[in-house]
Amino acid sequence: MSITIKTAPEIERMREAGRLASEVLAFLTAHIQPGITTLDIDRLGAECMARQGTKSATVGYQPPGYPPYPGHLCTSVNHVVCHGIPNDKPLKKGDILNVDVTVITHDGWYGDNSRMYIIGEGTIAGKRLCQLTSDAMWKGIAQVKPGATLGDIGHAIQTFAEGHNLSVVREYCGHGIGQKFHEDPQVLHYGRPGTGMKLQEGMVFTIEPMLNLGKRDVKEQGRDGWTIVTKDRSLSAQWELMLAVTPTGYDILTWSDGSPPPPAFISGIRT
Ligand code: MF3
Ligand code: CO
Ligand code: CO
Repeated sequence: MSITIKTAPEIERMREAGRLASEVLAFLTAHIQPGITTLDIDRLGAECMARQGTKSATVGYQPPGYPPYPGHLCTSVNHVVCHGIPNDKPLKKGDILNVDVTVITHDGWYGDNSRMYIIGEGTIAGKRLCQLTSDAMWKGIAQVKPGATLGDIGHAIQTFAEGHNLSVVREYCGHGIGQKFHEDPQVLHYGRPGTGMKLQEGMVFTIEPMLNLGKRDVKEQGRDGWTIVTKDRSLSAQWELMLAVTPTGYDILTWSDGSPPPPAFISGIRT
């Protein structure tokens, strides 16, 4: 597969897809409280997409070698790294939850993003991991401009994470996106500066680091074909945004009124 460079009008279609994907996460925020189940969250997300006139990109999604994914979104709790399948177990105080929403607009553009939610007050360790994982994502985003490389992004994330004694999951990465869910390039969350593909204006991709409190190793949980957990059962967090490369930097496309503000070291959502 090759990289698709998006035109300015295409990027505006993707901004609409991104805003809608972000609005699903914003809508869910008030509902994510102790006692709710991830299946409840799935149903609320599906209803929100129906009101928007978008479709879930995940329900029935079946890459080669996988069973069809059953959820309208992914819900990954505590030591679940990614692709958690919504279930009927109530969330409890102190849990950390990633909700990953990908929508398809009426005209076929994808918007993909995820956030962490802390259930109840949260624990010191859980809150720290969620905050540092968001900061790590933004350290990667801050590298994005024409002429920078994919390795610059990965290196910034890895250096920040490992500097705080967190490990970077290697098996899953960010990705190009457009009128397909997963396009080239693969955006690794580790790497060496100056290596890998050079970024160009009009590229659109996600940055979605998964960081663990313990070791980086992951495995499939059970036999559902999807759920990925940390081998050592340590907590794992993930954040995801979708962005376009501009002439001078980046433009965050998965943005809406309810988006958590970027950290203090970031000057804006468009540079
Ligand atoms: N949204 C995820 C990503 O960021 C992919 C989920 S695929 C699913 O790439 F099938 F697990 F939903
Ligand atoms: Co993604
Ligand atoms: Co996603």
